[in-house]
Amino acid sequence: MGEELEAVDPQERFQEFFKTEKYRQRISQMAVAGRTSLIADFEDLLIFDQRLAEELRERPDEHLKHACNAAYAQLQTEDPEYAERMAEKEEAVTVRIVRLLETAQLRKLGSDHIGKLVMVEGIIVRSTPVRPMVMRAAFKCKRCGEVTLIDQTGQFLKAPFACKNPSCVGAKRLFDFVQEESTFIDSQELRMQERPEDLPPGQLPRALHVKLVGSEIVDVARPGDHVSIVGIIRAVSSTLPGVGKLRTFMLHVETNSIEVLGKEPEITLPSPEDEEKILELAKDPWIHRKIINSIAPSIYGYDHIKEAIMYLLFGGVPKSLPDITIRGEMNALLVGDPGTAKSQLLLYVTRIAPRGLYTSGRGTTAAGLTAAVLREKGGGMSLEAGALVLADKGIACIDEIDKMRPEDRVAIHEAMEQHTVSVAKGGIVATLNARTAVLAAANPALGRYEPHRTIADNISLPVTILSRFDLIFVLRDVPNKELDDKMSEHILEIHRKGLSPVEPPIASELLRKYISYAKGIKPVLTEEALRRLKDFYLAMRSASESEGSPVAITARQLESLVRTAEARARVALRKEIMAEDAEAAISIMKRSLEEVGIDVTSYKFDIDILMTGKPKSVRDKLQTALSTLIEMERDTGMVDKISLLNELEAKYKIPIDEGERLLGQLLREGTIYEPQGGYVKKT
Ligand SMILES: Nc1ncnc2c1ncn2[C@@H]1O[C@H](COP(=O)(O)OP(=O)(O)OP(=O)(O)O)[C@@H](O)[C@H]1O
Ligand SMILES: [Mg+2]
Ligand SMILES: [Zn+2]
Repeated sequence: MGEELEAVDPQERFQEFFKTEKYRQRISQMAVAGRTSLIADFEDLLIFDQRLAEELRERPDEHLKHACNAAYAQLQTEDPEYAERMAEKEEAVTVRIVRLLETAQLRKLGSDHIGKLVMVEGIIVRSTPVRPMVMRAAFKCKRCGEVTLIDQTGQFLKAPFACKNPSCVGAKRLFDFVQEESTFIDSQELRMQERPEDLPPGQLPRALHVKLVGSEIVDVARPGDHVSIVGIIRAVSSTLPGVGKLRTFMLHVETNSIEVLGKEPEITLPSPEDEEKILELAKDPWIHRKIINSIAPSIYGYDHIKEAIMYLLFGGVPKSLPDITIRGEMNALLVGDPGTAKSQLLLYVTRIAPRGLYTSGRGTTAAGLTAAVLREKGGGMSLEAGALVLADKGIACIDEIDKMRPEDRVAIHEAMEQHTVSVAKGGIVATLNARTAVLAAANPALGRYEPHRTIADNISLPVTILSRFDLIFVLRDVPNKELDDKMSEHILEIHRKGLSPVEPPIASELLRKYISYAKGIKPVLTEEALRRLKDFYLAMRSASESEGSPVAITARQLESLVRTAEARARVALRKEIMAEDAEAAISIMKRSLEEVGIDVTSYKFDIDILMTGKPKSVRDKLQTALSTLIEMERDTGMVDKISLLNELEAKYKIPIDEGERLLGQLLREGTIYEPQGGYVKKT
């Protein structure tokens, strides 16, 4: 009986499928778009002929060929002229299947999938530039000049065995590859990884190698993009020279189609029951307090930090003006003594955020925090996305940010304000999106936080990075009898019972949904709220003006205030930013400024002094030291410290010991570095 079923020619069945209205239309549009691909929805095929669809999934090599031939045959009927033109150029129609009904999980791919058509979803972490690949290679005989064409498959370029010319008899195979007479096709390789939000808690992401061949599918996705790929799973083993092939094989996917998916995490709307719960919660006048109390309940105290985390989770509204865009995501930094639960808070945020990613300053991959151009094993370069790109539209929790790589120190400036990461290296030029909120933690440079020193002295991060944080908090571990008493009781209670002594008012599952829901709201400033923010800003500006300090708080802080107020309105699911939101934003900003050692009541503060910890005269001297260094670098590359100090004394009358302090400051800021002992160089 099975024989009879076999008798149906698959190619004919495919052609019947392409004769349906939808596909006739798609085929006739191919010429207009100048395309050679025909997109076919798997679901359509399944409805048309379930058996054929299943065959295609099980034996894609054979059936895709039938499908492509059928599509070309149908093109000959729909648009004979275009079919003719394609034939002249030796082009074929490629049928590209999209949206299989089920996605295969990256971490479940195995030997069962080899040779099968599967759909996988994930995030692109690495890509090579588009490279031409030879499809048909032309070889010219060195003896008689005859050209032989060889169709290429496999990894290596294959030369002919013998010359095609019968009168040319030579024992040696000597050929030249002729590029102009060979045909090439665009190819690219990608590395795809499980999305941060799909990752089982505490697991490292798995990756899959992706091969793309064909000008219509290369260069579609960039690192950081979320994609859905349909393709055939292949297994190859690598060859060890002189030994043979390895018995274990590596999996990769040979791409048939690739689609870039929307980047919004959890686009799925909450169920009606969940929505009801969310709306009910939002009515509570104490909703802000309730959420703060639900954040990391096992961690004692730190209410103001939990409040800041709440704002960070909800975020402000990004503004895209015709000429510029302003980020909506907030950045917060926790600087603190060892053992003050910074890492715990960060890990908690990773779990609760709709898309959260935890990494250390050094990064967990070669790409670090931003991006890197890497040299591949087989030669050639590839671009790899770092943590901030992978967490696009989510929250990146960066622990020990002060220990980040020097390359990231440069690139993170752009990432944290413009929300892009630009790369131009090794022939790769790209700009990747990094619309990421950052929650970072750092230890004080001197081991413990020294309250009488400025924040810039306390942490080894340059001022330019510090100023990109909307809020900075200091966590100090100072003995305090009353607090220690309560806290130890709290911690010991956790250890005794194995669960939190305080039940969160909102369960984390619901809180996560609540955040996703709130992110759809775009609150706007009311007159009243706007006036409060403006008054506060102007009061501080004028206070520093009368002091005669050169730079007061900057427009950055004003934008931070707006973001915080927006986030607070979102928490209550309000479309309007009220005076109370503005007040709360002002008060947490004041708290943050106070924490870093500023007397807020007198309004006398100067972000410049706060961040750099030095009055104008010192800044001028630093500038002098730096420009002298740059001047001297022109002659010698790197500069001997001793000669720099002598120069500063001779030319600008800066005493040696002061010069040494200035260099120390520049070193700590990362403006200059020591390429080798006794020498300095500008970063
Ligand atoms: N306020 C607190 N409430 C409950 N537990 C706390 C509190 N502070 C510290 N701990 C506990 O102390 C331990 C150390 O915390 P954690 O590792 O997060 O510190 P850290 O600030 O990251 O330190 P380091 O700077 O050395 O990395 C954790 O087990 C944490 O639960
Ligand atoms: Mg830690
Ligand atoms: Zn020859």
